[in-house]
Amino acid sequence: MNELVIFASGSGSNFRSIIDHITNGHLDAKILGLITNKAEIGAIDIAKQHGIPYRVFASAQFESTEAYELALLDQCVQWNPKLIICAGYLRKIPTILIQAYPNRILNIHPSLLPKFGGQGFYGIHVHKSVLESNETHTGCTIHIVSAEYDKGPILAQERLLVDPSESAEHLAKRVLKLEHQLYPRTIASYLNQLNHPTA
Ligand code: GRF
Repeated sequence: MNELVIFASGSGSNFRSIIDHITNGHLDAKILGLITNKAEIGAIDIAKQHGIPYRVFASAQFESTEAYELALLDQCVQWNPKLIICAGYLRKIPTILIQAYPNRILNIHPSLLPKFGGQGFYGIHVHKSVLESNETHTGCTIHIVSAEYDKGPILAQERLLVDPSESAEHLAKRVLKLEHQLYPRTIASYLNQLNHPTA
């Protein structure tokens, strides 16, 4: 079975879209659990609605960064997913997790990487920067998570035309709509690739 663990820190609309694609039969996968770094976020409400287990790991709860990272790893090892799916997770993925799940952690970013990626480029800041830079196109990127922010191998991108008169909030909504289609589709094809390496 194609088990997934979702990492999220926000409203969880990508998380919801992945659930919907599974429910509709467009993504053959099962979600084992949600990991967040914040309590009281939309993603937790979605997990509750669907009976998906969730765990909150805030680094402040732990004595050290090492203890926090080991707790995260331990939870993932317990769930034992095929893929870890970061869907708006706003903390850096610890190196021990990347080493334990080589090429098995995916992330979505709301720009056409390598443009507008890296530390500080998250949420509305990305879209503001796109507009300020007079980009003609923007979009979203799915990539494999590596040790550096937003730098891992790119699996898929979807583009749209920027309207220079639109607000960053409007652009964010349009990009998010693309994300909701591209992420489940890319997860499905990546799982297929993992399950049939020579096909
Ligand atoms: C998305 O724009 C995603 O690209 C970025 O964080 C946002 C998460 O949105 N990494 P949501 O919580 O899935 O609604």
